[in-house]
Amino acid sequence: MKGIILAGGSGTRLYPLTKAISKQMLPIYDKPMIYYPLSVLMLAGIKEVLIISTPRDIAAFEELLGDGSDYGMKFEYIIQEKPNGLAEAFVLGEEFIGKSSVALVLGDNIFYGSDFGNRLQKVAASENGCTIFGCYVKDPRAYGVVEVDENRNAISIEEKPDMPKSSLAIPGLYFFSNEVIAVAKNVSPSIRGEKEITSVIEHFLNKRTLKVEILGRGLAWLDTGTHESLLDASNFVEAIQKRQGLYIACIEEIAYRRGYISKEKLLKLAKPLLKTEYGKYLEDISKQPQSKVFLEV
Ligand code: G1P
Repeated sequence: MKGIILAGGSGTRLYPLTKAISKQMLPIYDKPMIYYPLSVLMLAGIKEVLIISTPRDIAAFEELLGDGSDYGMKFEYIIQEKPNGLAEAFVLGEEFIGKSSVALVLGDNIFYGSDFGNRLQKVAASENGCTIFGCYVKDPRAYGVVEVDENRNAISIEEKPDMPKSSLAIPGLYFFSNEVIAVAKNVSPSIRGEKEITSVIEHFLNKRTLKVEILGRGLAWLDTGTHESLLDASNFVEAIQKRQGLYIACIEEIAYRRGYISKEKLLKLAKPLLKTEYGKYLEDISKQPQSKVFLEV
């Protein structure tokens, strides 16, 4: 399975923060926002990732993350000229995806929860249809919303409904079979002029090949859409990391514990960061056994 991170958009709701830089480059406590969705793909076991961003911002992401070899992975980059909608990711990414199945994660979505990596690996192993997630939120009106029956089968999907039929918002993390490329090509733009991801998901719902995984109390899905929620997300990450001494979305740690990079490589990556707690954390990790078990404690 391959992965796509969509890190486009104009970020106008966060102005003036995002007037000159990408929203997905903003800090969430101690690391750039894009580390969080990247870590999600890594936890799912995905090693080939396409990063899609705007003509203005793509070079900065390339400078930040490189070709992926630092993390034992492979990164590619492509420009989305205009914010034409999330579904366009599969059209732009057609060549990259090839014959593979694909996961899409939005560059501003942050997840944190126990056993999440194991759940993701299970989802990534199924090659059929589409899997989305459903997260309880107090007010789902700003999101895609999924309604499920008592057996957790999806009944309806709606994008930003005024009167949501359930409290289950659909976070920006989606797993698809290769069929998604053809489906995305045929999606017509919505009233707001975008190829909506919900229209793509609806296709799989109609074909009865849509699965919904409910992410309940044990999982935090954080919003970063406003100045307030951005600060809340930073405070959340700080609180967990300080208390547990376990870092959230530390891509170097995941690469090391999953055996993608050696201890020597990890120390090399830590070196320029040693003035920070982050760098010291990497140094500490290098002294621990290289076992993926620690990712899911
Ligand atoms: C997009 C999707 C929406 C989803 C949300 C998650 O909305 O269209 O279905 O729930 O991401 O972050 P946007 O935030 O781009 O308006």
